[in-house]
Amino acid sequence: MSATALSTITASPIAGALGAEISGVRLSEHLTDDVIAEIRQALLQYQVIFFRDQKLTLEQQIAFGERFGPLETHDFVEGMPDYPQVIRVVREADETTLNFGGAWHADVTHQECPAMGSILYGHDVPPVGGDTLFSNQYLAYDTLSSGMKRMLDGMIAVHSARGPFGPEGRSKDNWKNMRVNTSDKAYDEMEHPVIRTHPETGRKMLFVNKTFTIRFKDMTEQESAPLLNYLFQHASHERFTCRFRWTPGSVAFWDNRAVLHYALNDYTGHRREMYRVAISGDRPY
Ligand code: SIN
Repeated sequence: MSATALSTITASPIAGALGAEISGVRLSEHLTDDVIAEIRQALLQYQVIFFRDQKLTLEQQIAFGERFGPLETHDFVEGMPDYPQVIRVVREADETTLNFGGAWHADVTHQECPAMGSILYGHDVPPVGGDTLFSNQYLAYDTLSSGMKRMLDGMIAVHSARGPFGPEGRSKDNWKNMRVNTSDKAYDEMEHPVIRTHPETGRKMLFVNKTFTIRFKDMTEQESAPLLNYLFQHASHERFTCRFRWTPGSVAFWDNRAVLHYALNDYTGHRREMYRVAISGDRPY
């Protein structure tokens, strides 16, 4: 794939499956509607886009995010003081436990309307390590057999936040420097189609993830596990992925409807501090 030059920005792909670095724009400035439309077009085309060498205050990150829709607060992770829409994803140098986001997932699929997209800013990044991986869920769907597609097409999956955020969930022993609040609300269940249609591109995508999807509707967890585990594994096959190496001031903006992501935990001894905003999405169909 070669670079795509739009009127103002240039999108240079970083992998065959998805992902492009965008140049020609400073996110701290007020961008025209035309430039925002170009960024949205690049997001839809590449599913995840990256910007280097941006210097963003929290206000500027919020202002940029709001150009794509209202921002949401997280059900279980408290926002920054004075900025409830911004969560601080931080791991201190001396932490040895699990990192936040260290499993293949889409954000907040326990919600009725999971986020449309997330924007992550690298404030303090390790000299090496702490990359984020992304996986293209259009390709995950397209590469299933016709029989599997037919079977999955009418199926519904049940999602819940209990794994990461239930009182007995992973946050109990991890993410000690983040403002995570567990609650029984994490046991709530939400149903979403296993195959989702993208509301803007009209393309079908696989829409299950290991962090939030717990079973198929009308099936037990034991009955669901073999097929779900197959789909989790398929969804993150290497050929659907790209990998982003952070540098200070980088920004990743992913289409949370169309990709899974995975924060790599390979930088113990260094700190990593990121700020994330999430843009409200719609009900999957
Ligand atoms: C997340 O899952 O939102 C965190 C991603 C990252 O820290 O790279």
